[in-house]
Amino acid sequence: MQLKFIKLSFLVLFSFTLQFSFPIKAQEIYDQQIEAILSKMTLEEKVGQFVQIVGVDDYNEELIRMGKAGSVLFGNDGPEEVNRIQQIAVEESRLGIPLIFATDVIHGCQTIFPIPLAEASSWNPELVKIASGIASFEAASQGIRWTFAPMVDIARDPRWGRIMEGFGEDPYLSSIFASVKVKGFQGEDLTDKTQIAACSKHYVAYGSAEGGRDYNSVDISERTLREVYLPPFHSAVKNNVASIMSAFNDLNGVPASANYFTLTEILRKEWNWDGVVVSDWNSVGELLNHGFAKNKEEAAFLGFTAGVNIDMVGDTIVGNVYSPNLKNLVEQGKIPLEKIDYAVRNVLKMKFKLGLFENPYVDIKFFEQNDLKKNYKDSIALQLAKESIVLLKNENNILPLNKNIKSIALIGPLADNQEDLLASWAAFGKEENVTTILQGLKNISGDDTDINYAKGCNINDEDTSGYEDAVEIAKLCDVVILIVGEDREMSGEAASKTNLDLPKVQEELIKRIYSTGKPVVVVLMNGRPLTINWISENIPAVVEAWFLGDQAGNAVAEVLFGDYNPSGKLPVSFPRSTGQIPIYYYQKSTGRQYNEEDKFTSKYLDSPNSPLYPFGYGLSYTSFNYKNIRVDRTKIYKTDSLTVSIDVTNTGKFKGEEVVQLYIQDEVASVTRPVKQLKGFQKINLKPGETITVNFNITHDMLSFLGKELTEIVEPGKFNVMIGGNSVHLSITSFEVIE
Ligand code: BGC
Repeated sequence: MQLKFIKLSFLVLFSFTLQFSFPIKAQEIYDQQIEAILSKMTLEEKVGQFVQIVGVDDYNEELIRMGKAGSVLFGNDGPEEVNRIQQIAVEESRLGIPLIFATDVIHGCQTIFPIPLAEASSWNPELVKIASGIASFEAASQGIRWTFAPMVDIARDPRWGRIMEGFGEDPYLSSIFASVKVKGFQGEDLTDKTQIAACSKHYVAYGSAEGGRDYNSVDISERTLREVYLPPFHSAVKNNVASIMSAFNDLNGVPASANYFTLTEILRKEWNWDGVVVSDWNSVGELLNHGFAKNKEEAAFLGFTAGVNIDMVGDTIVGNVYSPNLKNLVEQGKIPLEKIDYAVRNVLKMKFKLGLFENPYVDIKFFEQNDLKKNYKDSIALQLAKESIVLLKNENNILPLNKNIKSIALIGPLADNQEDLLASWAAFGKEENVTTILQGLKNISGDDTDINYAKGCNINDEDTSGYEDAVEIAKLCDVVILIVGEDREMSGEAASKTNLDLPKVQEELIKRIYSTGKPVVVVLMNGRPLTINWISENIPAVVEAWFLGDQAGNAVAEVLFGDYNPSGKLPVSFPRSTGQIPIYYYQKSTGRQYNEEDKFTSKYLDSPNSPLYPFGYGLSYTSFNYKNIRVDRTKIYKTDSLTVSIDVTNTGKFKGEEVVQLYIQDEVASVTRPVKQLKGFQKINLKPGETITVNFNITHDMLSFLGKELTEIVEPGKFNVMIGGNSVHLSITSFEVIE
């Protein structure tokens, strides 16, 4: 009865305020409704909102009925099942508070897009936003209204398998992608039944795990935390991300899931954010393993008071940390009720924002009648897949292949593979929806081209019995395309590696094929930068295709045949060896800057400092020339802005896209600064012979850094501005900031 009253008054107020300024009024209504519900909740029901159960069995159903579970981490059991479970919450629990159903929708839900590291290689945020919107629609159609994405952990260590889930090594680029992913998932208005709540994870500095070993400790300065690891989270917060997930790692001696400094001081007080913090999978429970809490009660106290609102895996044999301990802690007077109420408000607000009190059920008919057209979804997936591909090497323009080529040998364990191309975290993706490379090539090659396929070997075992066939086929064909790389389990969570070479069996296959003397193209499919020195030295054409999802085969084929001119740029440096790790462009200059002639400078005896392929790097079938870099003012006051311009000309024969990158260096500062920092980019499209003048507006915030007191400042002095097509080959000019 009470609930009906709440619902009715909500409706009346809602329809009234629609005519006026919706967002402010809506917020007020939420607040009134939340207070009304809160006043009726028992302590147990309040704690119930913090319990996230995994899947639903009889036991969990009973928890829902008793109001002891607030959200469900869910598999793909379909919208009818979601509605059935939701009905238990809405109609059978005392207060009828709806559940939120969550799933990891990372790079697509049913339609699978390229992995996030590949998405970042596209340097096309708008396209990624559209793809996330599609993922959101598909997830919502299944009843999933909450995704645990985007992962925005900066990763400068490719040994860490989760590097595939994020946007690479750079805080600026990652911040841009963090914002569009959030916007794509959440849309303009979360009450829209086709949008889902986003969750930026893993807060924070998880990507800096020592030795690249997953779940390992992190020890970094507050400066590094603020300059490198926090910005993408801040970007998500500025874009109203609904939730944030606390990480597994220990951060400077305080586990991230019990870290008051990051979870409350920064997130709540500095950033003034009022969303929901959810733990990672039992990460509050793991405070015991960290040796940070002596029992679950203490873990619950530490996690909750630091700022973790929801306990993922909150009521199973594994977890069971918040329930029943929070209730006891309140009753013992250790946690004030106001703190519980504050967190309940956050959770209820998220449910209101999602429109769940109004419309708790999946509108199955709506989704059936308004389903996005498959053609549309596939075309976005294809475009993004094409733009994610990075051309690493193309000696003597061996690519693109001529469509009239007589015969192609297609070799390698990933050439006719569907499952691995989905990669880790493929949500509800299905292997049968993946176009293999073999199929993709057949789809667009000319009628007179013979495509001969041999697997050659498996991805990672010792069986070499397929070599012979592969070599025979290679000998008979005009060109060999080798599709090699990792399987889907070799990157992602719990997939750290000490050796980043291709599995031996594949390296040997490549060498055998190479020794036939035929022209060879290597296409790599992998979730992290690999060490590919031999390939890079010997194979004339090398393509980094990452894991591209459903449209992988069509995208690779279009690039190989030149129907699409590759434009992807690396969001992460490729090391020459694991000994160079961590490796990233954003280095300090040191007191002994690298000098080849001088032994006593910062360098290795056995390797150059430089990566094999740098951040921002990627070739095209055409060439771009950068000329006339210039600033419109050579001196500015701190609060002024100026424009830097450069003329970019397509000097080759193909039309093509180029990612024009802007880097800035503060030459002398009161705190040492990186040699360069990405501060902007534009993706432009040029016809052969065409020149475009690219302008960047340089503003105060692009010149500021965290001074000694860790507050933003701009210091007078010389700034270098660099523009180019990667982080190494850059045109440079400078200007001065005056007081
Ligand atoms: C991962 C998270 C993920 C969660 C739920 C954890 O193991 O670290 O990234 O969101 O599982 O699937």
